[in-house]
Amino acid sequence: MPKPKVFVSRKIFPEYLDLISRKANMELWEDELPPSRSILLKKSKGVDGILCLLTDAIDAEFMDAAGPQLKVVSQIAVGYNNIDVPEATRRNIAVGYTPDVLTNTTADFTFALLMAGARKIAAGYKFVQEGKWETWHPLHFLGQDVYGATLGIVGMGRIGFEMARRATGFNMNIIYYDVNRRTDLEQQIPMKYVDFDTLLKESDFVSLHTNLTPETNHLMSDAQFRKMKPTAVLVNASRGPVVDHAALYRALKNETIWAAALDVTEPEPIPSNDPLLTLDNCLIVPHIASASVATRREMSRLAAQNLINGLEGKELLTCVNPEVYHN
Ligand code: GLV
Repeated sequence: MPKPKVFVSRKIFPEYLDLISRKANMELWEDELPPSRSILLKKSKGVDGILCLLTDAIDAEFMDAAGPQLKVVSQIAVGYNNIDVPEATRRNIAVGYTPDVLTNTTADFTFALLMAGARKIAAGYKFVQEGKWETWHPLHFLGQDVYGATLGIVGMGRIGFEMARRATGFNMNIIYYDVNRRTDLEQQIPMKYVDFDTLLKESDFVSLHTNLTPETNHLMSDAQFRKMKPTAVLVNASRGPVVDHAALYRALKNETIWAAALDVTEPEPIPSNDPLLTLDNCLIVPHIASASVATRREMSRLAAQNLINGLEGKELLTCVNPEVYHN
């Protein structure tokens, strides 16, 4: 039997590339930057599977270009808003993703962002780097306290819940909003379910943990920022488009809110002339919340194994559309 054919759209940990190449004829995109659309479509022609990233749009056009033999799309990320899942399901293509293995690492990082935003860590670092540190001053770099403050979590999924767990260590008052109330999780950690408006009004920190869907696109815009406290910090490690950046710029510039700390932007990468980059109260890092050595290794393993399972006609370890097995 000839080996199945796969395209891997970026380097992952080498041991898992080796694993894939033992099972399949693998073509690997070795550049640091993503393949262009036309290269992605060309390279994927005739493949049985693809290991892809959130920068690759996997839509009907891609599936047409790949051809009817395409069995599995294995995404190395927990989010999959770049994949047209209903279309994949209609075509009986299994879609894999990498949940769970990144939950704690992502929550650690999001909490670090929260603290950095609250305590001006990036602005202080820049000040020292620029040689501006002349003295200890009672009124310099005053931040907002984290301990005892109210944390509002939007989206009580796996990462949202781990944020809550971390917040208990800082004696924070935790409130959350989600389309589904999670009384099961409320048994484990003291936290209160509130409506979205109440969350915006009462939180000292608003941390976003929703999926990106048409409903959550620009969930945070002018009207929402106006409801927040002038001392509040917005933290976003979900997806960039959940926040309307033009509105965020106005809110930060006019001091409607106090600061923002973002791991994700719209678009990514954020253009170097984006006005948000001119603000000292806006900390932006390049979408790295899951980037620890151990977690990226685990994500590589899971994405590789999902790809192989899909090629071998086995259920994926973590599948977005398990309906394909019952079609
Ligand atoms: C990264 O953003 C992911 O979805 O894993």
